Amino acid sequence: FTANWDAEQIGKNGYEDYMIKEIFEQPQAIRQTLGSYLKGDEVSLPFIISKEELDKIDSITIIACGTASYAGRVGEYLLEKLTRIPVKVEVGSEYRYKDPIIDDKKLIIILSQSGETADTIAGMREAIKRGAKVIGVTNVKGSTVSRELEYVIHTLAGPEVSVASTKAFTTQLLSLYLIGLYIGKERDQIDAEKYKQSIDTLRILPEKISGILNNKKAVEEVASKLSKYENMFYIGRNSDFPICLEGSHKLKEISYIHAEAYEAGELKHGALALVTEDVPVICLSTIEHVFDKMVSNITEVQARKAIIINIRHENIPSIDNVDSEIIIPAIDDLFTPILAIIPLQLLAYYTAKFRGCDIDQPRNLAKSVTVE
Ligand code: G6P
Repeated sequence: FTANWDAEQIGKNGYEDYMIKEIFEQPQAIRQTLGSYLKGDEVSLPFIISKEELDKIDSITIIACGTASYAGRVGEYLLEKLTRIPVKVEVGSEYRYKDPIIDDKKLIIILSQSGETADTIAGMREAIKRGAKVIGVTNVKGSTVSRELEYVIHTLAGPEVSVASTKAFTTQLLSLYLIGLYIGKERDQIDAEKYKQSIDTLRILPEKISGILNNKKAVEEVASKLSKYENMFYIGRNSDFPICLEGSHKLKEISYIHAEAYEAGELKHGALALVTEDVPVICLSTIEHVFDKMVSNITEVQARKAIIINIRHENIPSIDNVDSEIIIPAIDDLFTPILAIIPLQLLAYYTAKFRGCDIDQPRNLAKSVTVE
């Protein structure tokens, strides 16, 4: 097949690298995807699953690799909240060989930007064979995921060229919100008011993302300080944690700095032994109901003299004695992850730039891994 994308979409359009171009395309990518799957104030997916079938679902498994798997990890938090159905995330390379438990009460969600990742596709085929309901989310029309599944959401992010995925990630998150709102409403887990508020929040995401992108200078300054370190931690609680996983993944991919993400409360069970003044800690504090807990975790790393970069939203109080703060707009906690990842994408990008790395072609990595 040939994807139907024109040369202007694929050129760099005056940007230095594809990655930064694609980061800046996110408001448009979200707007396009929403435009297709919202009709008035309703989620309108390109398929219908009957209420009877949705009521039967007793668990959801998300199968994906790489960045898409981290979108899945965020999905675990948001889908459980919206649908009250337990959610598990599996990477394709493990799922395909574990003799997975699958039956017709299970909903499987396949996330793949390219729709061609070999391990993800193997998991998808196993799920189809064993009779699960399978929804695919892919950015490439005509890809294997797009062709082999009956229920498909196409993210309308446009071509993603940079190996490090950005706009595919945020539109995957958006698709998970749409799936969650659709199932949650059908299963009577969301009242009319919450549903309406959620749709309104989705609609303001593009302008909120643009606001964060306009503040890129602040992130660039932080990156100039961080670029000389070789190890970093990212810590967060609740849905900030999988955003830390994706943020640290971005940094590793393009800057070659060793970075690890931890659930903030878990650090003290081992990894805290590694925190010193030479290991900056990126703290994500955007979830209000766990903010007090984050403050104690930040105090723990401050006591080890680590450099602290705190990312919070505008309604969360500032924390004393942190080295830098990056502030993002405040929206409903459930939707904050799609904003919180933006400064982490910029941070990885500028840090790698300061280190002189080849942003779009990181060593040893490929955009699409179609072999095992
Ligand atoms: C490769 C890329 C990653 C990507 C992963 C999954 O490893 O380098 O950026 O996240 O594949 O790709 P997919 O197309 O399935 O989302």
